[in-house]
Amino acid sequence: MTTVAPSPHARVLSDAPDWWRQAVVYQVYPRSFADTNGDGLGDIPGITSRVPYLAELGVDAVWLSPFYPSDLADGGYDVADYRDVDPRLGTLADMDELIAQLHAHGIRVVVDIVPNHTSDKHAWFQEALEAGRGSAARERYIFREGTGPDGAEPPTDWVSVFGGAGWERVADGQWYFHNFDVSQPDLNWANPEVRADFVKTLRFWSDRGVDGFRIDVAHMLTKDLTEPLPSRAELEAMPIDGTHPLLDRDDVHEVYAEWRAVFNEYDPPRTAVAEAWVHPSRVPLYASAESLGQSFNFDLLEADFDAGQFRRIVADNLALAAESGSSTTWVLSNHDVVRHATRYGLPDAERGADGRPTLKHGNEWLLSGGRTPALDAERGERRARAAALFVLGLPGSAYLYQGEELGLHEVADIPDAERQDPTFFRSPGVDMGRDGCRVPLPWAASDAAFGFGAGGAHLPQPEWFARYAVDLQDQDPASTLALYRRALGLRHELQADEELSWVDAGSEGVVAFERPGGWVVVTNFGESAAPLPDGEILVSSRELDGGALPGETTVWLRRS
Ligand code: NOJ
Ligand code: CA
Repeated sequence: MTTVAPSPHARVLSDAPDWWRQAVVYQVYPRSFADTNGDGLGDIPGITSRVPYLAELGVDAVWLSPFYPSDLADGGYDVADYRDVDPRLGTLADMDELIAQLHAHGIRVVVDIVPNHTSDKHAWFQEALEAGRGSAARERYIFREGTGPDGAEPPTDWVSVFGGAGWERVADGQWYFHNFDVSQPDLNWANPEVRADFVKTLRFWSDRGVDGFRIDVAHMLTKDLTEPLPSRAELEAMPIDGTHPLLDRDDVHEVYAEWRAVFNEYDPPRTAVAEAWVHPSRVPLYASAESLGQSFNFDLLEADFDAGQFRRIVADNLALAAESGSSTTWVLSNHDVVRHATRYGLPDAERGADGRPTLKHGNEWLLSGGRTPALDAERGERRARAAALFVLGLPGSAYLYQGEELGLHEVADIPDAERQDPTFFRSPGVDMGRDGCRVPLPWAASDAAFGFGAGGAHLPQPEWFARYAVDLQDQDPASTLALYRRALGLRHELQADEELSWVDAGSEGVVAFERPGGWVVVTNFGESAAPLPDGEILVSSRELDGGALPGETTVWLRRS
């Protein structure tokens, strides 16, 4: 068991039932955070050993990506047992210790729940394979007969989100549906046994002290599989308005209403945040107090570093939050996208008629192994610091992804043989996958695997990671880490209610807003300097020179 001495940065755990509304939530990708036993894989005791670091950073909560037993076919989002810990990462006792240490430092704990699909190694799927067609075990998943002679063709031409066919044939000739990898069979949410089991899982972790849940692809669980099944083209032509057979169905909220009743049995009530890729008009359904309570807003993941885009995204999402009564969430990076320091150092995304990027932002650069288009790494970091300080000034909760507090860039040149992400293997040459943002963190510039662990790192770390190491940034008051610490500390002091009023900064490329108590946040998205509003300067993303606001810079001020 790891025991961590209480750090001087520990805070008292807030008992307020709405602790989550304006929380800064730090996402840990456990296998790439810190490795204590030298097997190259980050582990639970590794996270526990870094609790003082998280407390000093000043986060309010930690969200753990899946740490459950898993074949790692999809980085842990292929769960073999929802109520246990992967033995390579630790034990349930290690989790209890981590939860206790986080709580002792005033930090809440959110865990990832993956209800749309299990791993094919889950006992239920193994049982389904053995029990054969027509069995109750197969009814927990989506098994169908094939079409064509001998049923050798899949039931439909549906495709998987990760590329390739959405159906896989098993030995006795039946097919099962998987929205993601073949190793991630979709569950049948029309089956009461499936529903009951997830309630059991939510209680299991809530009883152990977990404070909230991040719900993976929350818009996909329920499905209308009435025969005849539609074709892919028919599916694509259908509106996604609550009645679509596979996506964002109204009836998924029956599941979440049941979960909500469970969450509310606890004190403080357990929280949940939906990963729901739905039309903005449907976000409030997930974010309402009767459903999950909060829903991710991913708009900034697709935005350029651009005043107009940022301003519109803030206004739209504050309006949506007001509609649901929830608070919104701000996300610049996570384990699924190219890190924002890198996105902001690349040319702006090419956009289709709907205004959305035609390619995943940064993918073109990844496909070239980081050679083209040219990356302006310094500019990316400068803009990343400005964007972070902008977002941390907003009302709502901010989700940080491990390593962004170091200004870390994406790793583009991972050799094919060392890649792990199924999206790379299932869409060869089209999507380089998400390994580049999942490379283990650099803690110490001169240590083995940059302090991640004594036994190397499960994804290769480039030489330039040394420059971003925590121990170097600790010594440098101008580092990105120092900036995040200062901003999070100030946020605690300044934060009041969730009001925001826009301030006219007199220049098109400058966005400014005021929060209660005279707290002003101003960002210059342009390249040339602009006038700086009056007020006491609290923190700045870039060194200030005289009274001007430099390009690509955010400043927090206090007006008297
Ligand atoms: C969303 C998760 O964020 C992603 O990493 C995962 O691959 C899919 N859901 C499938 O679980
Ligand atoms: Ca380990």
